[in-house]
Amino acid sequence: MQPKDHWEKVYSTKATNAVSWFQPHADVSFDLINAIGIGCDASIIDVGGGASVLVDDLLDNGFTDLTVLDLSAAALAAAQRRLDSRASGVQWIEADITRANLPANRFDVWHDRAVFHFLTSAEDRAAYVRAVFNSVKPGGHVIVATFAEDGPAQCSGLPVMRYRADELHAEFGEAFSLLNHRKEAHHTPSGTVQQFVYCYCRRVSS
Ligand SMILES: C[S@@+](CC[C@H](N)C(=O)[O-])C[C@H]1O[C@@H](n2cnc3c(N)ncnc32)[C@H](O)[C@@H]1O
Repeated sequence: MQPKDHWEKVYSTKATNAVSWFQPHADVSFDLINAIGIGCDASIIDVGGGASVLVDDLLDNGFTDLTVLDLSAAALAAAQRRLDSRASGVQWIEADITRANLPANRFDVWHDRAVFHFLTSAEDRAAYVRAVFNSVKPGGHVIVATFAEDGPAQCSGLPVMRYRADELHAEFGEAFSLLNHRKEAHHTPSGTVQQFVYCYCRRVSS
């Protein structure tokens, strides 16, 4: 099954609050974004945002330039239904991030929770990093969360890469400075615990 078919099936057959990655609030992501100290007009993209409530949390806190990108139309539709009239204030992009044609130097903040770890081929990871480098402004902020080295070997039934913070940063290279990292023990709706690592990097200015 192609990845898009997999994700369309997941979001068409499961409640958004029943999937293993569900969070009632994206607290760690929001805290890391909030700690940057950017203004509410900063442009933020949630890559592979799916039906995550991070966009709700950001809207609730006054952020106005929000983009959610995901491979799955069903995921984006679920988020739009939940946001109702507020959905029109968000830009929605249905795309594969390894092939997406994002505008250059568009975003102040790139956020990804649990997408990069699905990229098991070096070519796809390189394409992802090129997309970050192209579309994040020089000096912009990059927050990427994956399963940690002691996290599960699969997510949504698909194989994943697991990283320590230094290994995750190494995928991005010297064009990005690692400023902070932290781990999170994510409690899934079925009661298991998954270890995540979050890396906060900045795109080097010159
Ligand atoms: C484990 S879910 C995480 C969703 C969300 N970030 C969260 O934390 O709730 C992974 C998401 O990545 C999306 N995805 C997987 N591969 C992708 C790709 N190559 N490009 C864009 N989105 C992708 C899936 O459709 C799914 O919504």
